[in-house]
Amino acid sequence: MSPYSPNSECSQLLAPIHAFLHCPTPDEWIAEARKPQHLAALLVDHANCELKAAMSAHSLVRRYCLPKEKRKLLPNLDFYKTLDALPEKGEVLGKQTLLDENRRVFDELEKNDLLVKMVRLIQEELHHFEQVLEIMAARNIEYRSLSASRYAQGLLRHVRTHEPAAIVDRLIIGAYIEARSCERFARLAPHLDEELSRFYVSLLRSEARHYQDYLTLAADYSGQNIDDRVAFFGTVEAELMCSADTSLRFHSGVPVLSVDP
Ligand SMILES: [Fe+2]
Ligand SMILES: [Fe+2]
Repeated sequence: MSPYSPNSECSQLLAPIHAFLHCPTPDEWIAEARKPQHLAALLVDHANCELKAAMSAHSLVRRYCLPKEKRKLLPNLDFYKTLDALPEKGEVLGKQTLLDENRRVFDELEKNDLLVKMVRLIQEELHHFEQVLEIMAARNIEYRSLSASRYAQGLLRHVRTHEPAAIVDRLIIGAYIEARSCERFARLAPHLDEELSRFYVSLLRSEARHYQDYLTLAADYSGQNIDDRVAFFGTVEAELMCSADTSLRFHSGVPVLSVDP
């Protein structure tokens, strides 16, 4: 057991997350995931999850912050890696190079809460991604190709096909993925070596904010009460956590005896 355990600030961050999630991570998952033979695969999967979190936020920005004919104006994902801090939104989107007609689009975007929250989230997820890669490199763990868990697809297949229901569902799913990641970081941290323990606890603060940002945006986009939809995805998410799963990944369910490498 690592000497480093989540402190009281972490307990405060985790209380609303535990209330939001419909079930805790099963003990069977912790018992398997803490085994040293799974560490390399979990780190690779974790790196993939951070990158996918950035990519899915980027796709929300592309799809919902600009009309289709203007999407080419958005920077690609690599652009965010060059930013040290949250820049002016106009700067992110290359406002200074735009014609007057396009400037009006960005004047609208300045009021866009989705853009503001997602740009910050993209930057943070890319930073986490690079941190995981650094830890892997220091341990000579190769960033190999690894299949994804069933988790994200198991949630996304329930996204409704009309708007604004589709974005509301995607934002609620974003909240669950962030909240579960946060809960698992905290659960796993005491069972890892000190460097990884500290790293996982250090991720809690930003992931806890991401979950709340997604939930706030979902309520804003819906314009009506989303409690039933949140509860629905909570049930689906808990089922994915608590049912048998043949692979061991960061968001996998209860491991069966012979988990895939
Ligand atoms: Fe992250
Ligand atoms: Fe996150």
